[in-house]
Amino acid sequence: MKTTQELVGKRALVTGGTRGMGKAIVENLKAKGATVVTTARSEPEEGTTADLFISADIRTTEGIKVLTERTLDFLGGIDIIVNNVGGSSAPAGGVLALNDKDWMEAINWNLLSAVRLDRNLLPAMMQQKYGTIVHISSIQRTLPLFDSTLAYAAAKAALSNYSKGLSNEVAAFGIRVNTVAPGFIQTKAADAMIERLQEKYGSYEQALQELMSSLGGIPLGKPGQPEDVAELVAFLVSDRAKAITGSEYKIDGGTVPTI
Ligand SMILES: NC(=O)c1ccc[n+]([C@@H]2O[C@H](COP(=O)([O-])OP(=O)(O)OC[C@H]3O[C@@H](n4cnc5c(N)ncnc54)[C@H](OP(=O)(O)O)[C@@H]3O)[C@@H](O)[C@H]2O)c1
Repeated sequence: MKTTQELVGKRALVTGGTRGMGKAIVENLKAKGATVVTTARSEPEEGTTADLFISADIRTTEGIKVLTERTLDFLGGIDIIVNNVGGSSAPAGGVLALNDKDWMEAINWNLLSAVRLDRNLLPAMMQQKYGTIVHISSIQRTLPLFDSTLAYAAAKAALSNYSKGLSNEVAAFGIRVNTVAPGFIQTKAADAMIERLQEKYGSYEQALQELMSSLGGIPLGKPGQPEDVAELVAFLVSDRAKAITGSEYKIDGGTVPTI
């Protein structure tokens, strides 16, 4: 991890910063000098490297309200928002297994949480004529896996589209908005899944290979690490990326076979 102090004085909110990519993003921004607030539904047992942890469920309007008020109160403004929260809890079984509740959950979790948070925090950025926002999407926005994550994939596609539209609208206020679309990233949760699949496939290596094959293969031969995503996000929110807005960066080891 680069430890240049290029984010000193910057005030950041990273959602979902207690595990996986969010945790790595918090650590990277902190290492570069930013003051960082993070949120999750449950407080991490091992503590957090963030300057402030706020317990909130950002699928709810109440959670967004608490998060916005406490963040602005603590930071006195906002320069960086990383909308990292997202996920899928839909059952397997294809499209007919998904009901309205599953679809609304996916849309709330992966799209509306970011829309609501941006809407609450944008006035502060617009007033200071400076800010940068990153939305964490997924390669599934163009490469949907149909069995258990179709609603998730569709919600991430909407997030990517929303991110582009927002970037056009707020560019005149000096605010940059970009999207990062990860492929298979080896978080602890992904590792736990590989370990569970070991029983079926005989070894950890074979289970990993099967998972990569289910995505059509990863040309670089291995999944990415949370720190890889954090490094890309840290670049995008820094002034080194001052000419970049409305862009989407895949970070997938080459998984998506098209440009
Ligand atoms: N891992 C991958 O391979 C992969 C690939 C493509 C895209 N992504 C996307 O990347 C992002 C991060 O994924 P990840 O795998 O690093 O996630 P993760 O390991 O499951 O961690 C998710 C984080 O978000 C928090 N969180 C979840 N729901 C929340 C809610 N409703 N309100 C507040 N906090 C919430 C979690 O804490 P609590 O549970 O305590 O709330 C945790 O801190 C997600 O948007 C995901 O869709 C992941």
